[in-house]
Amino acid sequence: MSNPIVARSLDEIKFWTRIMKEHALFLSLGFTYDQKQLINEAQQFITLFERIEEKLSKFTVNSDLRQVKEFNNEVYQAVVAIWSYKRKVLGLTLNCQIRTNNFPLLVDHISREAAYFANRLKELNEGKLAPALDAVIEENVFFLKIMADHAKFIGHLLDPSERKLVDQAREFSHDFDQLLFQAIDLDSMRPQSETKPLLDQFLDQNRVSVVSLRDFKKTARDLIEACRIKSNIHPLLADHTFREAERFLEIIDLFESSLTKA
Ligand SMILES: [Fe+2]
Ligand SMILES: [Fe+2]
Repeated sequence: MSNPIVARSLDEIKFWTRIMKEHALFLSLGFTYDQKQLINEAQQFITLFERIEEKLSKFTVNSDLRQVKEFNNEVYQAVVAIWSYKRKVLGLTLNCQIRTNNFPLLVDHISREAAYFANRLKELNEGKLAPALDAVIEENVFFLKIMADHAKFIGHLLDPSERKLVDQAREFSHDFDQLLFQAIDLDSMRPQSETKPLLDQFLDQNRVSVVSLRDFKKTARDLIEACRIKSNIHPLLADHTFREAERFLEIIDLFESSLTKA
């Protein structure tokens, strides 16, 4: 019998390791030519996460739990290291010691994603499978902020002449800011707000917006890949934010089905 912790660990590592590797790539591309040391560090992280991907390919859902837990630990160390590198870059940027082409909010954003991944690995090694049901609101607060940030990045990295798309991105940014505030309100009403009908409605509402943002990102990605629109957006960044929206949808579904069972 395969262990659910094993399957979930491998799934989280598969998704987030690729994300961490791409963050290192985006950071490296945003530095200027004289920031060689920072570029080198970013490239070392690309290699590090590629090695983790290779190791991951040797595991299966039937792998030994103890070995998977060791692997989780090893990945955890790597994620903490890239987290502190990202925070260092943020500090240098906010102190105006360096100027890069990555917005401070983006550097902060990718460090939050690293912290989330590290925390998932820690929880898995403590035997906590999916984010627990009493974490529905907290988990949505995390992802709604991530989605709101994405809309802002897209809006700011599109060429200003792409007026229609910039407008659409701005609308998404506003929509997700509102959803985020709603989530924060619900969070402050915990635990009384953790009723099935309220959480159900909360998830339904979030899902509707995430689906349309996901579709917008997909369209943007296809247009960027086909060179049909003007922007500073790397095609891989467009795809990256699309995948993160898909991930959020999967998590919403996971919560939805555990609410139905509860
Ligand atoms: Fe990301
Ligand atoms: Fe993101």
